Amino acid sequence: MGFRTTGEAMGRRATISALALALCACVDKADLPRPVVQADPAAGLAVIEEVGCAACHKIPGVAWPQGRSGSNLAGFGARPLIAGRLPNQPDVLIRWLIDAPSMDPGTAMPPMPLTQDQARDVAAYLYTLDED
Ligand code: HEC
Repeated sequence: MGFRTTGEAMGRRATISALALALCACVDKADLPRPVVQADPAAGLAVIEEVGCAACHKIPGVAWPQGRSGSNLAGFGARPLIAGRLPNQPDVLIRWLIDAPSMDPGTAMPPMPLTQDQARDVAAYLYTLDED
């Protein structure tokens, strides 16, 4: 009997902490960060260096002669919009990275030679940049 009661109490406590965790996640992270499922930010950084995003963008963590024709991507993870007009969500960003002109024919951001997986990793890295 005593054993069973202890078990129930523990079960209840576990439920309460699970709830508390879920609530914190909602309050703290209503918008941020935006998780990119099964993506690897470190691999994303390597891709960014390989394809030369920093030729146009200033990107924290990238040791390149930093370009200025694109925007500074510091703080990008905390911005609500991509290029000031598209919702900054993983799926939208991944598509933007691969083929921005398909979303906005007028943009000066060129299509980039990224696979879907590479774009996911790059997106994951960009979402680590949440401070200006
Ligand atoms: C030839 C220059 C160029 C290259 C190379 C380039 N971009 Fe861009 N990028 C731009 C320009 C210009 C814009 C602004 C587009 C607009 O406002 O329409 C932009 C916009 C963006 C944005 C939206 C920024 C914001 O402030 O909302 C992101 C994110 C981005 N680029 C990431 C990348 C990544 C990652 C790479 C490499 C895979 C890359 N870009 C390569 C020129 C470039």
